[in-house]
Amino acid sequence: MWKKIVFFLVLVAFVAVPFANSLSCNKCTSPSGCKSPSSETCSNSTANANKNFLEGYHSNVPTVNGSLSFSCANLTYYHAANYTHTFEFLGCVFNETNVCNLALTNTVSGWSRKCVQCGTDYCNPAGTYSSSVYTIVGSAIAVLLAKVLS
Ligand SMILES: *[C@@H]1O[C@H](CO)[C@@H](O)[C@H](O)[C@H]1NC(C)=O
Ligand SMILES: *[C@@H]1O[C@H](CO)[C@@H](O)[C@H](O)[C@H]1NC(C)=O
Ligand SMILES: *[C@@H]1O[C@H](CO)[C@@H](O)[C@H](O)[C@H]1NC(C)=O
Ligand SMILES: *[C@@H]1O[C@H](CO)[C@@H](O)[C@H](O)[C@H]1NC(C)=O
Ligand SMILES: *[C@@H]1O[C@H](CO)[C@@H](O)[C@H](O)[C@H]1NC(C)=O
Repeated sequence: MWKKIVFFLVLVAFVAVPFANSLSCNKCTSPSGCKSPSSETCSNSTANANKNFLEGYHSNVPTVNGSLSFSCANLTYYHAANYTHTFEFLGCVFNETNVCNLALTNTVSGWSRKCVQCGTDYCNPAGTYSSSVYTIVGSAIAVLLAKVLS
């Protein structure tokens, strides 16, 4: 009986962790810096700092001071001719910032854009494998537990 309850709780913990409230994202703000991004946890203050950074390059960043929903983003601009990155930003943004719909200020027109906005830990590229590693480790532990407890 207790074994079953413990097993169930462990499973719940594993399933629930990805939905926990603090989202983590890869973080960097330049093509050279993005070769080895750091990480940051989403909060009103990190997203607000990134909003200020994006305002330096875009004309239509919405005014939001805080939010309850955050996303990770990878916003990259490059020369279409040779794929040289001219601007690369990874980090946590307010969901409402709609980072992929921002319009560049005309001083830096002529860049092509690639953009990802997503809502799971480190889902902005460079850490794309982390969630599948997590799932594999999670299911391996579940299988082990099921064997031990049966
Ligand atoms: C955002 O913050 C500024 C200054 O703290 C304040 O003046 C403004 O009213 C706030 N806007 C919203 C939508 O809360
Ligand atoms: C972040 O901002 C939102 C909207 O202004 C607010 O509801 C929420 O409480 C804030 N979160 C924190 C941790 O301050
Ligand atoms: C890539 O193309 C852009 C625009 O044509 C040019 O300005 C830039 O110097 C090129 N970069 C490299 C590394 O070739
Ligand atoms: C994020 O924002 C978009 C548009 O602003 C909205 O359609 C979507 O439901 C939001 N997602 C979350 C998780 O709040
Ligand atoms: C961000 O996206 C661009 C375009 O898809 C990609 O080339 C780049 O490697 C990504 N940045 C990181 C740090 O993964």
